[in-house]
Amino acid sequence: MSSHPRPQVIETVAGMRDVVAHERAAGRSIALTPTLGALHQGHLAHVERAAELADVRIVSIFVNPTQFGADEDLDKYPRTMDADLDLLGELGVPYVFAPSVEEMYPKGPSAPTTTISAGQIGAMFEGKSRAGHFDGVLTVVAKLLAITTPQFVTFGQKDAQQLFLVRRMITDLNIPVQLEIIETVREEDGLALSSRNQFLDASQRHAAVILSTALKAASSAADSGLDAVIAAAQGALMGESGVELDYFTIVDTETFMPVPDGYRGPASALIAARVGDTRLIDNWTLYVG
Ligand code: PAF
Repeated sequence: MSSHPRPQVIETVAGMRDVVAHERAAGRSIALTPTLGALHQGHLAHVERAAELADVRIVSIFVNPTQFGADEDLDKYPRTMDADLDLLGELGVPYVFAPSVEEMYPKGPSAPTTTISAGQIGAMFEGKSRAGHFDGVLTVVAKLLAITTPQFVTFGQKDAQQLFLVRRMITDLNIPVQLEIIETVREEDGLALSSRNQFLDASQRHAAVILSTALKAASSAADSGLDAVIAAAQGALMGESGVELDYFTIVDTETFMPVPDGYRGPASALIAARVGDTRLIDNWTLYVG
């Protein structure tokens, strides 16, 4: 156990609102970092940035059932509350909002209820293999923002589609919060940090680096045009067995739609693959010349 004081854990919406009211009355600004828990260095980068943005940090830890599909094992999602609280305590986080499913969804997570639709983009890429996932994400994020009313909220570049959709929701619904984007934290060999990396055995961990290798290759070819970007990624991916590619695609940063042939301009290269039973995603921002 860490020697630092752990954050105060708030389990109810009413309790969270009281804390927010108290902090606001004292004139303090608030930054929220929403998480599913199982915290790693990538999350801690959010928390560190949040300290620069606001007086008070709130980290939410909630394994949101509405963003898990029927075929995804919600029960197997890693829950490491003790370790998470130690890590957040070391970084001086004062508050963790950790509601139960009943507290967040009093009528049950699947009862007919008001939800936010992620629309067409929400059904593409990650949404294609995880139907309803982004509706669940946006709905819980809207609830967390409504409960904590922060001035700032942090989201990671690692989940590029989630980031795009949250940004659009904030704009479309005029939610008064400033979105702060946190760069992806990577292992030394390039693998993006993810709570799912812990499911990889040694050989899968070795193979998983191909995602970032392919993205780097794509980015290095960006000056030579779109065809070169795609060829470079395909070339890198051919070398790796044990990795089942779901998609590699280049999207327009503004619209998140796949770019047309001959596209030049700002873009994101997205990749998703299954390594053993573990699905991994990564992305890289590039300028196609
Ligand atoms: O990215 C995540 O960890 C989750 O999708 C989020 C934003 C905490 C919503 O449950």
